[in-house]
Amino acid sequence: MTDVSLGMPQLPAADYPAEVRARLEADAKDIIARYPDSRSALLPLLHLTQSVDGYVTRTGIRFCAEQLELTTAEVTAVATFYSMYRRKPSGDYQVGVCTNTLCAVMGGDAIFDELKEHLGVGNNETTPDGKVTLEHIECNAACDFAPVVMVNWEFFDNQTPASAKRLVDDLIAGREVRPTRGAPLCTYKETARILAGFPDQRPGAVEATGGAGPASLAGLRLSRGEALSGADSGQPVRRSSVPQQGETPAASSGAPGHPSPAEHASSHDAPQETAVSDPANPAGPESEEGK
Ligand code: FES
Repeated sequence: MTDVSLGMPQLPAADYPAEVRARLEADAKDIIARYPDSRSALLPLLHLTQSVDGYVTRTGIRFCAEQLELTTAEVTAVATFYSMYRRKPSGDYQVGVCTNTLCAVMGGDAIFDELKEHLGVGNNETTPDGKVTLEHIECNAACDFAPVVMVNWEFFDNQTPASAKRLVDDLIAGREVRPTRGAPLCTYKETARILAGFPDQRPGAVEATGGAGPASLAGLRLSRGEALSGADSGQPVRRSSVPQQGETPAASSGAPGHPSPAEHASSHDAPQETAVSDPANPAGPESEEGK
């Protein structure tokens, strides 16, 4: 058999057992039906294969390619671009220590070093029992709770080396562990299925997060040039902060008590009128008309 797009003999990759493949095909059909263009389903499909294999295998790549009529090279390019897809087997719990600037100075580096020592593994390595994979992670936009540790993408805020060691010990021992916020913790494979877009069926999971709410077709409508209504998001339509035709800036102001852009004093909101910091240009930037 030949992979026509690559013009090369197809790499042999073991197929899924018939029962697993039938289940995956049914799930894939469900995922693909969500999108106007089938190739848009690639990211959730990769999560789906991770929910079975624990990482992106060659079998999983070939499965995605077949379902979406893509080449295995195209699927591989996407799977190797995003860090949320694993390229080798990982533990039940992916323990990520944020070592970006703020977390690092607040103790993230110390936590990572202590966990390496405590678990006897390096970055991106898994404990011999297959329970915990340790890794550096980049900023997860939770800097105000630094230093942050994430387990299967659930947040554990304001950690210390001692609390992080307790956390991994509890994970390994199978004791209950609760994230600081969000849904209850589940294994890497279970998380992958939720990320593929299947509902979290665990008791209390929806209550913990408030749920995702009804599906929105707002993006699809916008792409077709249709006007949005409040029903698209279940919320009243948010007004633009940019003045519309016939409006004064004040009239286009957002939430009550929130100044319009024209009134806002922050230097980050608009270019300054003068160039005090640029002695070579004391009059400020030349306007387009003046050129
Ligand atoms: S630097 Fe760690 S969450 Fe932002």
